[in-house]
Amino acid sequence: MDTFLEDGPKNPIKIQDNTFRDGHQSLLATRMRTEDMLPIAEKMDSVGFWAMEVWGGATFDTMHRFLGEDPFDRIRTLKKYIKKTPFSMLLRGQNLVGYRNYADDVARLFVDKSCEAGMDVFRVFDALNDYRNFETVVERIKANGKHFQGTICYTLTERRMGGDVFNLEYYLNKAREIEDMGADTLCLKDMAGIMSPFDMAKIITELKKTISIPIHLHTHYTSGMASMVYLEAIKAGVDIVDTCLAPFALRTSQPAVEPIVATLYGTSRDTGFDLSLLLELGAYMESVAPKYRDYLAKNTMSIIDTGVLAHQVPGGMISNLVGQLKEAKALDRLPEVYKDVAITRKELGMPPLVTPTSQIVGVQSVLNVLFGRYKMVTNEVKDLAFGLYGKTPIPVDPEVQKKVLKGYKRGDVPVTGRAADFLEPELDAAREKIGDLAKDDFDLLIYTLYPTTGEQFLKWKYGLEERPPEVKGKTLEDIRKEDEAMAAAIEQVCKTM
Ligand code: CO
Repeated sequence: MDTFLEDGPKNPIKIQDNTFRDGHQSLLATRMRTEDMLPIAEKMDSVGFWAMEVWGGATFDTMHRFLGEDPFDRIRTLKKYIKKTPFSMLLRGQNLVGYRNYADDVARLFVDKSCEAGMDVFRVFDALNDYRNFETVVERIKANGKHFQGTICYTLTERRMGGDVFNLEYYLNKAREIEDMGADTLCLKDMAGIMSPFDMAKIITELKKTISIPIHLHTHYTSGMASMVYLEAIKAGVDIVDTCLAPFALRTSQPAVEPIVATLYGTSRDTGFDLSLLLELGAYMESVAPKYRDYLAKNTMSIIDTGVLAHQVPGGMISNLVGQLKEAKALDRLPEVYKDVAITRKELGMPPLVTPTSQIVGVQSVLNVLFGRYKMVTNEVKDLAFGLYGKTPIPVDPEVQKKVLKGYKRGDVPVTGRAADFLEPELDAAREKIGDLAKDDFDLLIYTLYPTTGEQFLKWKYGLEERPPEVKGKTLEDIRKEDEAMAAAIEQVCKTM
């Protein structure tokens, strides 16, 4: 009998809560407002989470663009209520919280200002796992005395871990590289939810022998394997896992915290959390969730996407592919696109599929299927083939490289240096352009990262323009009225039947 969990020395699993970031990013298009986080903020602080992920990823974009909220203010406001638990953010390496590489001056200021606003733990990743793209931000994270969590984007080319590229050796080598960079912790990040339980048992066991920094696991429930993955990883000695409160968990989000707490109760890896407190917090989340129900996918009965087990395409990427094909009135060609994604991905150097490479490969595959292979090529594919995102896991196919770089504005001889070395500083020009509308460096960053929507936001922020109603969002009162109107309409129909 397996008594490992009962007998071992006390080694509580640590939990990072992602409800306020990846939870609503995965399920509700990142639309949760700060005002709905505040009522439970103090209680969340008392649970004992290792950290709370509250920022980064898509939050910066959606907050200023769709919610009319100042992204930096969210950190400051939450910090007033959450005093003990460190704040964590997802940082896309040199892409920061945007979709392209920013120049080093922008990257430095961004990290400095995020620290000043109250950020503690920086989970840094790069879509190509090219850690030269970490250098600038890591220097600033360390200089500010903050926690650097180095991330490996987990991906596969086969049904299970293995093959020529993304095999066990690949991950162990990447982990060594990250530890050598001075990371405080290592994160294994599975954006598509394609990790399988026994592969994780193996990889965690081997990582534990290879590196000495704590190991943090991040996965998504998308394919349905995530809870099994966590259990095997916990048995193998993983140090930290990411979860959400149940209402913002499962589906394409993280596993729920409550069943994990219950599962580990009384074992050597007991979280020590108060389950009834978690239930109370979950009940609160249920009470505000109706405000965001329009964003919840409800087109299938199943809350897991078993297709992922076969095609391994991440959820966010699927919705983009579907959107593009719908626009071209060619949704019936989705199966062809899935096939092309595998081929195009390999030709473009086998990047892990995560922002922004998931979009780059996805858009090109749709074009390939609609117009013929590489008949139309996006600028992003040209940049990638030229080396502007960094080094791809395998070389870009030379034939494809030649084809896409024909007539490219930077020339047809690819570069091999660090991506940001090819970028001119950006801040001075941005400062001049935005002028007095940016009152401080925080405003300047919002504008520099997102020139069009950032400028619009600053006009709202300083009362030069009124926030439109859709930016203000629905209240629970609006939802109640919608439901009453719906009930009345149904009653009317029933009467006439
Ligand atoms: Co995630």
